[in-house]
Amino acid sequence: VPAVVRHQRVPVQQAVGGFWTRALGVRIDRATLQLSVTDLQGRTILADGPHPVAFDGSRFTLTKALPLGERIYGLGDKTGNFDRREQSFVDWNTDAYGFNRATDPIYKSIPFYIATGAEGGAYGLFLDNSWRSWFDFGHRDPSAIEIGADGGPIDYYIVAGPSVRDVVRRYADLTGKAPLPPLWALGFQQSRYSYMSADEVRSIAARLRKERVPADVIWLDIDYQDRNRPFTTNDKTFPDLKKLAADVGEQGFRLVAITDLHVAYAPNQGYAPFDSGAAGEHFVKNADGSLYVAPVWPGPSVFPDFTRAATRAWWGSLYKDFAADGIAGFWNDMNEPAIFETPTKTMPPTVRHRIDSDDFARRTATHAEIHNIYGMENSRATHDGLLKLRPNLRPFVMTRASYAGGQRYAVTWTGDNSSTWDHLKLAVQQMLSLGLSGFSWSGADIPGFTGGASPELATRWYEIGAFTPVFRAHSAKDTPRAEPWADGAKHLAIRRRFIEERYRLMPYLYAVAEQSARTGDPVMRPTFYDYPAMEKAPCDQSMAFTLGADLLIAASPKPESPYPYDVCLPDEGWYDYWSGARLSGEKVSEMPRLDRLPVFVRPGAIIPSQPLVQSTAETPNGPLRLDVYPGDDCRGEIYLDDGVSIQGSSLRQSVTCTATAKGLSLHFGQRVGSYAPWWKSISVTVHGARALTMTIPDQPNAATVEISG
Ligand code: GLC
Repeated sequence: VPAVVRHQRVPVQQAVGGFWTRALGVRIDRATLQLSVTDLQGRTILADGPHPVAFDGSRFTLTKALPLGERIYGLGDKTGNFDRREQSFVDWNTDAYGFNRATDPIYKSIPFYIATGAEGGAYGLFLDNSWRSWFDFGHRDPSAIEIGADGGPIDYYIVAGPSVRDVVRRYADLTGKAPLPPLWALGFQQSRYSYMSADEVRSIAARLRKERVPADVIWLDIDYQDRNRPFTTNDKTFPDLKKLAADVGEQGFRLVAITDLHVAYAPNQGYAPFDSGAAGEHFVKNADGSLYVAPVWPGPSVFPDFTRAATRAWWGSLYKDFAADGIAGFWNDMNEPAIFETPTKTMPPTVRHRIDSDDFARRTATHAEIHNIYGMENSRATHDGLLKLRPNLRPFVMTRASYAGGQRYAVTWTGDNSSTWDHLKLAVQQMLSLGLSGFSWSGADIPGFTGGASPELATRWYEIGAFTPVFRAHSAKDTPRAEPWADGAKHLAIRRRFIEERYRLMPYLYAVAEQSARTGDPVMRPTFYDYPAMEKAPCDQSMAFTLGADLLIAASPKPESPYPYDVCLPDEGWYDYWSGARLSGEKVSEMPRLDRLPVFVRPGAIIPSQPLVQSTAETPNGPLRLDVYPGDDCRGEIYLDDGVSIQGSSLRQSVTCTATAKGLSLHFGQRVGSYAPWWKSISVTVHGARALTMTIPDQPNAATVEISG
């Protein structure tokens, strides 16, 4: 406790109690329970409203003050506006097929928000409560935030900033960081509901290579299975999954297969997941002790009780054959859980779970308590099972439902979106909000799951998607084909160019990914994450974001409109990524063109990139490229490893630059780690009035290279 505040400590007997930490003052009024948190100077970070807590049976509502000027972000991929102020939301994981901007709740519950604009800086609030919960940010009462839940503990964390970045990093310290995904998962991923046969998968693989569309992954949706039964394959249409994986593997593709959690209710049919699950008592039951059976894709289905460690271990073991067949990753869908033929779309709140896991006392709990964490525990079981089966390989799991902290186990996507311009806008907002809520790795179906996209919408979606964390094309049955070539040569050429750019940027993206795994910084960020003043920039930034700190992507806030729009930049002197030209002002006017997506580079950035490859399985041929954009704080990072191992050698190197009288000095830091790079030389381009390129030998040791001209 610093001396200046020590004498302010409140004697225990007084009406107001509290304590100081090295950064905060916390006070509570003993009579009203009003809580306030300040910084050391006494500036308010968060204060309760006049009635801090109210009870209604097992429900509670907390009331916090919402001062004028505060903005609210987070809550995962909620719809509505990006700034959550004046809106209210419910957390109750829901299969939201056909959702739109007004739909709430949807698939995930991430009861964490960030407020900016308080006197004492930004703060975050995480309500760690798995029951149905709600957040009202000045919707009912403009001066109040109301937070409540149907039951469970009043257990919440206030995460102080003062910056948004501080809040996000501390929240990640608390709930876990999204681990570094395998490198191949950063590539372009082609999916469809469904590729109906192994032959079709082979032809998609062949076409991607023939059209020279770089890609790493092909997804198998439910139709590869026998009668939609998880952990089976249709032996007529997919006779040899192992051979399929090996054959497309030779062309540099990995397969990701869906494995939904609903196990077909199929007693005495030799269906192992049901038989072993029933024998192990792994399925949830009704209050009267009977098995809970309900319809989903396979027809009548039963549901694992993922709150039991033993059930998770059993579930994880189901991946043994697919793992042995060389299926690289898995998709956990429908895990809200989705139930068909019922208006609630999910299982009754009375279904019983038998908690037996972690440090919890063993007890039964109703589904009402477990619902919002059920999908996360499903993905946890998958993740942990894969880790057991392939101990040093990074598991790749994608989940639809999740909860705060679920980022430790799986990447996510925004579910069944639609092929509309508004959904393209919503997708950007949803991925940004997920990033602020711990989920660094998310994607949205390109070019919308349902409805069929116009060629222009699809092309625009591919362009923007190329700069988003999980870059996956997926579309529903009975919609027009949506592969990159589906709309003819002109559109294919544009889409290919953006997919290629993603692959060229892989060294930058991978370094951002590795940094994200260490710090909790999202991969895709609102511009104000690294440049706080941008929060109030005088441009509509609803379609602007940064990838890492150094690239700013600025699609039109009205992507369907042919009219020009303004892009606000954090500072003067940013560069145009495509031309390398340095810009003078802090604002540029963009005239929309279908084949251009404006991308800008931070002055001072050093961006590593590589020669074009058709997949991450291919070793780039040629020098590492470093694009230097002179400016203050000039630096870049190189990070490399084998792309799949959890423990293994790596290579890490920082590069900085300083301006000299004659040009520029490039300083290579000492390389850390023994992983052998693929390049022998480095091609350096210094951007400015006139770009200058030179090739230098690889620089494994600390060294300075002078560049003049
Ligand atoms: C759900 C998923 C969708 C998938 C379909 C079939 O609707 O959200 O992505 O294609 O189920 O598995």
